[in-house]
Amino acid sequence: MVKKTVLVTGGAGFIGKHTVNNLIQEGFEPIIVDRKEKTEDIKCKFYQMDVTSEKLETVFKENKIDYVIHLAALPSVAESIKKPLKDCMDNYYATVNVCTYSQKYNVKKIIFSSTAAVYANPKYLPVDEDHPTDYLSPYAITKNASENFIKFSGLDYIIFRYANVYGPGQDSQGEAGVVAKFFELMSNNKPIEIHGNGEQYRDFIYVEDVARVNVLALKNQITNTIINVSTNTRTSVNELYQYLKSGLNYSLEAKHTESRLGDIPKSVLDNKKLVKLFNYIPEIGIKEGLTKMIKDMNDK
Ligand SMILES: NC(=O)c1ccc[n+]([C@@H]2O[C@H](COP(=O)([O-])OP(=O)(O)OC[C@H]3O[C@@H](n4cnc5c(N)ncnc54)[C@H](O)[C@@H]3O)[C@@H](O)[C@H]2O)c1
Repeated sequence: MVKKTVLVTGGAGFIGKHTVNNLIQEGFEPIIVDRKEKTEDIKCKFYQMDVTSEKLETVFKENKIDYVIHLAALPSVAESIKKPLKDCMDNYYATVNVCTYSQKYNVKKIIFSSTAAVYANPKYLPVDEDHPTDYLSPYAITKNASENFIKFSGLDYIIFRYANVYGPGQDSQGEAGVVAKFFELMSNNKPIEIHGNGEQYRDFIYVEDVARVNVLALKNQITNTIINVSTNTRTSVNELYQYLKSGLNYSLEAKHTESRLGDIPKSVLDNKKLVKLFNYIPEIGIKEGLTKMIKDMNDK
């Protein structure tokens, strides 16, 4: 049987690499477009290219693309505040470009990685998909605009709003996710800072669960809807710190600093829609996920 071809934009990134591995396991043929260089662990066709470029069309010309999983983005709230134009290019402009060629070359379905940031500071918890959207950062604005463009494009789509994704392979530099940052510093017994009192909480989802859901979206008939991808559980930054402190035998004490602009104090996403439509319950809880990360590090 001919394998279905899936263009994964941002496939050399954190969620992208896990998604590509899952696609290969499930019998799809992934093709990556990313501006990063190809690394040895990438085992599929690879175009080093900017997704905002007109050259993107060559990827569609040279391959019959059945599906697109669009992950390429500037995935940082703080960076988007510092560099709103870059955020606009890598998030909104990129999405318009990807949709334009997906339309022209008759892609069957596009999967888009949106974010809990589009709910801004939630009015109620857990946040379901009917919660109004709002913004506290350019990142939330361009992700929401991208969602709207995808709906407007006429393509069949699934828009996922991911909670906080964590797991092996996440970049710990710059404005990384809190798990990656804490993990890197605490495993090297370096000092860490907790913004605010640490009681802010999030819904953390393990990256392999996200990769599974991205691929399931190509295997089912569900289209044209927005779905939270989350565990529907809350973990405070202090709890996260305590789990890692004991798991990594960290001997220092965290220092508390000021809260950051654009940060959301409390967020938990309702995942009933995901469970019902996809018949899938994210399997890996935070303690298990962190334990897996520690094992992964020790095995290297
Ligand atoms: N990590 C999270 O917690 C989280 C939460 C919600 C949503 N998301 C979304 O999931 C997606 C993937 O996030 P990630 O954590 O894997 O980020 P990542 O930074 O690890 O991966 C993004 C990849 O996209 C590439 N990229 C960015 N702009 C590009 C461009 N213009 N052209 C070509 N390549 C480009 C980068 O080189 C990188 O490899 C993003 O859209 C992000 O907004 C992530």
